[in-house]
Amino acid sequence: MKSLHPTILAIESSCDETSAAVISGGRIESNIVASQADLHAKFGGVVPEVAAREHIPAMIPAIKLALKDAGRKLSDVTHIAVTYGPGLATSLMVGVDTARALSSATNLPLIPVNHLEAHIYAGFAENKIRFPALVLVVSGGHTMIVLMSGHGRLKIVGQTLDDAAGEAFDKTAKLLGLGYPGGPKISALAEQGRKDAFAFPRPLLKAANYDFSFSGLKTAVLYEAQKHRRLTPTLKADFAASLQAAIIETLIGKLSKAIDEFRPKTVLLGGGVAANRMLRLEFLKLAQAKKIAAAIPKIEHCTDNAAMIGLAAYYRLKSGKAEAKAFRSEPSLSL
Ligand code: KG4
Ligand code: ZN
Repeated sequence: MKSLHPTILAIESSCDETSAAVISGGRIESNIVASQADLHAKFGGVVPEVAAREHIPAMIPAIKLALKDAGRKLSDVTHIAVTYGPGLATSLMVGVDTARALSSATNLPLIPVNHLEAHIYAGFAENKIRFPALVLVVSGGHTMIVLMSGHGRLKIVGQTLDDAAGEAFDKTAKLLGLGYPGGPKISALAEQGRKDAFAFPRPLLKAANYDFSFSGLKTAVLYEAQKHRRLTPTLKADFAASLQAAIIETLIGKLSKAIDEFRPKTVLLGGGVAANRMLRLEFLKLAQAKKIAAAIPKIEHCTDNAAMIGLAAYYRLKSGKAEAKAFRSEPSLSL
């Protein structure tokens, strides 16, 4: 039956990556990601107007390449999935309008996908997930701990009150003159630095909830940086290592407490910051100490990509939760 072995063409354009993928029967057949990061680097961050304009010429080639890489034709596709939020309004519109046009030309059903839910499903690609699962979602726009009791059954148990973890990496990297995106720059530099060089705060770590607050970190980094006449490469590496340690210790500390309370069968990591080597390591160590299964997406499925959109759509279909509905892009969609 078609719906039990769907072949999904997935589209993602919520921020600065134009991506298309083919997922068949829950298996990733192709995943094309055209990143605009180099373009935005000279502005020190994503410029929404520029991002939207760049998605337009990149979208159709990404879709064609995704089909070609998968050895598929459009006629093999049974469903079209697309990110409809959260994200940059004008960037989302490019993906949603493309999906709508394709659907109206082919009569294929559309599956609108929540980008945050997709970051969670990235970890389902090569791991067997048992419920209840506890998920740490860490991206450029969001930081949350989610309790997943089944497909589509998601409850936020804690989230950031201000900046996301990825934002903390990006903003402090900018402050230290390390460039954009900050996460990869800081994590590379941190390898040569001392993580106890500076005692940056571990915000809300002792609070009796699962919320986060990372906006104060950039101020702490700024004050410390002002104490030094010049930021030498050694100092920059120490800043990077100390900042990374503060963020990771906070994330892992809160997750550890949540594991004790919610007793999940699996812990899952997702979002762009999940590409961080040290976070992956500490996450695995925690799961081992708590004696529970851990699932981490492949690095290329952590940052924005369409394969995770297709996976989220596949599991929605499989669990009968992908009912067709009228939709439009929703920049501030929540989980
Ligand atoms: O999930 P994502 O691609 O986009 C959003 O949905 O926001 O996440 C992007 C974020 C950026 O803040 C970027 O700096 C961060 O993920 N990031 C990293 C690493 N790679 C990407 N942060 C820390 N270490 C990394 N290796
Ligand atoms: Zn994302």
